[in-house]
Amino acid sequence: MAASEPTNTTSLDSLRDSLPKELWFGDTLYLYQGFWCFGVLFDPTVAFQTHFEAHDTDIILASLPKTGTTWLKSLLYTIVNRQNLPTISQHILHSKNPHELIQHFELEVYRYDHNRPDLADIPPPRLFATHVPYPSLPDSIKTSKCRIVYVSRNPLDTFVSLWHFFLQFDRIKGTEANAELMEEHLSKYCKGICPFGPHEDHLLGYWKETQKNPQKVLFLEYEGLKKDPKGHLKKLAEFVGYPFSKEEEENNVIDDIIDICSLKSLKDMEINKTGHVFPEVENKFLFRKGEVGNWTNDLTPSMAKQFDQMLKKIKDAGFCS
Ligand code: A3P
Repeated sequence: MAASEPTNTTSLDSLRDSLPKELWFGDTLYLYQGFWCFGVLFDPTVAFQTHFEAHDTDIILASLPKTGTTWLKSLLYTIVNRQNLPTISQHILHSKNPHELIQHFELEVYRYDHNRPDLADIPPPRLFATHVPYPSLPDSIKTSKCRIVYVSRNPLDTFVSLWHFFLQFDRIKGTEANAELMEEHLSKYCKGICPFGPHEDHLLGYWKETQKNPQKVLFLEYEGLKKDPKGHLKKLAEFVGYPFSKEEEENNVIDDIIDICSLKSLKDMEINKTGHVFPEVENKFLFRKGEVGNWTNDLTPSMAKQFDQMLKKIKDAGFCS
């Protein structure tokens, strides 16, 4: 969207109301610029597109929901700020959930501050996150030298993670978590109807960009991070301009970061047992099993088959994990 387009509330309401819509666990998703955007996030998304001015030093984490965003936020923040952080036992993650340390443009930054939050004075590097697909990012992110870290995850595990996540909301709790409800949302997911989806378009948008410009977009996979956290952390630290020194490696700094940002460590922190970052979302909802291939516990083979077309599209585009 061009910066000159009107963004007053009335014109945004009529733009949103003109879009195709679908229900997702009782919320409305609108098909905007080829992706499904929650109604409540529509205005903040447009404000982000219209007003955000990227700096060359910015680092932006991009992902689909439930692909490892919280994990990456904790890792990225710790890597970039490690010189200023006290010892592991007093690490900031003990007092703040990762989403407080790196905020999403559309979920927080442009949601509450009359669309014009003052971001200019944040010292570099500014760290932000977004679920918005690559083609819909503001031009200044694409044209500046700022860097993007993308994390992808297997669509079946992502869907199952989303399923468990949405079941915890108050408005769903009364609903019987039955096979019908799952079938309905599975069928939508496989047709591309899901928050910020279609899944394959989101993944391939960033994947194509990393092929064209690997200096600009670092593409990480949740599964790869689980398998080789150390290798991935080194890659991530190097990409964002904060490589680990030999001395740090010898002093086990990488292992310490892996430990403090692990699922078990974050899950056990008091702030994540009782705290609340997003309205409606208790911090504890953000940490579940964190397993690769966990979908086999929830999806039958015939349910899994519904993902075939999506997986084929991803593979045919040259993405192989
Ligand atoms: P599961 O539901 O499969 O357990 P997001 O942060 O994008 O919402 O992704 C949530 C998924 O990441 C959940 O997956 C959650 O358990 C997992 N997760 C959260 N913190 C993690 C961590 N530190 N390490 C590995 N996985 C983590």
